[in-house]
Amino acid sequence: MFFLKESEIKHLYSIKDATDNGIIFDEILKVCEHVKPQLADKGFAYTYAACLLASKDRIDESLKMFSLNKEDTFCSIMTDYLKDVGAFVMPGKVFESAAPYDIYIQTELYKKHQAGTVKNILNFAKKNNHPQQSDTPVTIMDIGPGNGVLTAQFVNKIVKLYKLKSIRIIFIDPFEDMLKTASENCKKNIDIECKTISICCKIQEITNEQIEIIKKSTPIWFINAAISVHHMPKEEKIPMLKLMKELSPNFILTEVNWNHDLPEKDSPELIYSVANSYGTFSKGILELSVSEEDRKLCLYHFPIAEAINIIKQERPARIDYHTTIEEWQNIGHEAGYEVSDPITTFPCKGKPFVFVMEFNSGIR
Ligand SMILES: C[S@@+](CC[C@H](N)C(=O)[O-])C[C@H]1O[C@@H](n2cnc3c(N)ncnc32)[C@H](O)[C@@H]1O
Repeated sequence: MFFLKESEIKHLYSIKDATDNGIIFDEILKVCEHVKPQLADKGFAYTYAACLLASKDRIDESLKMFSLNKEDTFCSIMTDYLKDVGAFVMPGKVFESAAPYDIYIQTELYKKHQAGTVKNILNFAKKNNHPQQSDTPVTIMDIGPGNGVLTAQFVNKIVKLYKLKSIRIIFIDPFEDMLKTASENCKKNIDIECKTISICCKIQEITNEQIEIIKKSTPIWFINAAISVHHMPKEEKIPMLKLMKELSPNFILTEVNWNHDLPEKDSPELIYSVANSYGTFSKGILELSVSEEDRKLCLYHFPIAEAINIIKQERPARIDYHTTIEEWQNIGHEAGYEVSDPITTFPCKGKPFVFVMEFNSGIR
C-alpha cells in the first residue's frame, strides 16, 4: 500500500468490522482506543471510524467521532459540514459551475501547481519543436482546462519562445460552463490571435465523430492534461491514453499523487488517502481571505463533495480515481508510451503531492 503499513491496515480492519456489525458507539470507541497506539497517525483511528459511520448515515455518531480528532483539518471541515448540512451527501456536481474553482485558484497549492506546470511545458517546448505547417496555426489540445487561466499562461510562454503569430487550442471538458469560461479567458489573455475549438464530453467517452473533428486540426504539438484525467478507473485510463497517442505524440500529465483508484470502498488505505489529501487541499482554502460564504462554496462544492463521493460510492460509481505516481508510470507504459521521471511541483510531508510527467510516443 502507498500510505499505510500492512500492520496498521490489519489493526484498522477491526474498526471496520465493528462498524459493519452495527455495534453501539461506545463499543466502536473502545476498538478505536485499542487501535490508536498501533498507528503512526494516532488520530486516524477516529477519522476512519467517523468516515465509516458517516457512510452508513449514522450522522450524529460520526460527528462525535470526528470531534475526537478535531485538530486534524479533514475532521474539522467534515464536522462543520455535517453540522451545517446534516447529511453525508454531495451538495451538487463538482465543476458544474466555475465559481468554486475561481476561489480555489487563489490558494498557494494552486499557484504552485500552476507555476510548476507552466515551467514544465516551457521546458518541453524548448526540447520539442512544434510541428508547424505554413498554412495552419500551431495546434495544442487541453483536456479539462478549468477556467483556462493555466492554459493562457503556458500558451503565452510558448508563443513568446517561438514568436508564434497564431495558435489553435482544442478544449475538451464535460461542462459547458468550463468550456465557455476557458475559451473567453484564452481569447482575452493570450497575446496573439487565438482560435478555440470546444468539445463537450468526458475524455474517456469521446465519440468517433468528435475524434474526426479533432483529426481535422492535426498535427497537434502536445496534449496538456492538468489534474483532469483522474476521473476514470485504471481500466479506462489505458485505452484513453492509447487513443490520445493517435492524436499527438506528446502528452503532458500534471496529477496529484493520491490513492483513490485501486483501493476498495471502506478500506483503511482509501480513507487515509482521502482524509490526508483533502485535508491538505482544504487547508489552503481555509487560509484564503475570502468571505465565509465563498469559503463554504469552495469547500462544499470541491474538496468535500469529492471526498464524500469517494468514501460513499462503490468503486464503479466514484467520480475521482486519483492515482499514485508509480501507478501512472505503469499506466503510461501499458498504453505504449515512454514515460519521463516525475517532477514534483508541490511537496507535502516529504512526498510529492502534485507532479508533472511527460508521456512520449517515441515518434517525433
Ligand atoms: C481540477 S480542474 C483542472 C483545471 C485546469 N487544468 C487547471 O489545472 O487549472 C479539472 C477539470 O477537468 C474537467 N473534467 C472533469 N472530468 C473530466 C473528464 N472525464 N474528461 C475531461 N475533463 C474532465 C473539469 O470540468 C475541470 O475543468
